Amino acid sequence: MSVLTQTKDVPALSPIERLLEATQDDMGKVNALILSRADSHVEMVPELARYLIDSGGKRLRPMLTVAAAALFGKGNGSAVNFAAAVEFMHNATLLHDDVVDESDMRRGKKAARMVWGNKASILVGDFLLGQAFMMMVETGEIAALGVLSAASAVMAEGEVFQLAKTGDLTTTPDDYAEVIRAKTAVLFEAACEVGAMSGGADEEGRRALARYGLALGNAFQLVDDVLDYGGQAGTLGKNTGDDLREGKMTLPVILALAEGSEDERSTISTALGDADATAEQVSAVVAIMERHQTLSRTLDQAHGHARAAQAALDVLPSSEMRQLLSDVVEFSVLRAY
Ligand code: IPE
Ligand code: IPE
Ligand code: MG
Ligand code: MG
Repeated sequence: MSVLTQTKDVPALSPIERLLEATQDDMGKVNALILSRADSHVEMVPELARYLIDSGGKRLRPMLTVAAAALFGKGNGSAVNFAAAVEFMHNATLLHDDVVDESDMRRGKKAARMVWGNKASILVGDFLLGQAFMMMVETGEIAALGVLSAASAVMAEGEVFQLAKTGDLTTTPDDYAEVIRAKTAVLFEAACEVGAMSGGADEEGRRALARYGLALGNAFQLVDDVLDYGGQAGTLGKNTGDDLREGKMTLPVILALAEGSEDERSTISTALGDADATAEQVSAVVAIMERHQTLSRTLDQAHGHARAAQAALDVLPSSEMRQLLSDVVEFSVLRAY
């Protein structure tokens, strides 16, 4: 077989697969740490935690942490602790979030709360948060601990702000931008920033990675909010149409309410927050969104953030890892198609 055909036969790796490959040694350590720190003599803790952990997830945030550290390459290995802590913070948030959102599915399986109940989900989430902070403290790196502690508080604030805005027809695009920054983007920002810090980045490098993570996180959530109306439950690993039934004020619905006719507004507001809204009602709302192009305009915003994330890396010397981090941004927006 010629070299040419050989290359043709091997499917090109996606950016996310290349990131996985580039970080696999560190991620092996991160995954081992995650499993060992999910352990407890109270049986229900590892049972529930491992149920969620073993169902995978993309591990995007911890990969970003170790990749950011590798980008600067002067680290002492503390990035592994920070990466595991970041994933624990994320998983704790998901356990809590599924209770708050009354979600039935997560990572393609029944949400933990559907198996063990809401109470256990909240408490195991708290356990994971505690373990996350232990892992950070073990590094002795107080500045990075500060970044992640602040992120933890802001994320909770974001979830509360979103809760306060539930079903509120006066919610503005700025309110929404604040919600997604706080609940999602700030953890991406912190994951990248502490990675850079533990990799020995200077001030400029640290700021670049923070800006990169923040913009990437904003793009990621915007896309997630589009997928909730357009995605297939099978590919997303959670149900579609749930945001509408929960009364979640995401950008596609905010724009549709702002621009729709009186009839359209009433179709939307009737379904919004109605847990029993039918698939037909959801489809009717999606049709309104399509008429006003609110899903595609939300994606346009995601693209804007994605470009900003890539541009944030421009101040850094070019390297393979920098290119990889830039390529991975595409994944956050391309998963919408
Ligand atoms: C889900 O995050 C929560 C959002 C911010 C939309 P991910 O899509 O990264 O979840 P997992 O970890 O891969 O399951
Ligand atoms: C994501 O929020 C979880 C957090 C960032 C707290 P959502 O409620 O929008 O995401 P999914 O749809 O449950 O993953
Ligand atoms: Mg949710
Ligand atoms: Mg939520």
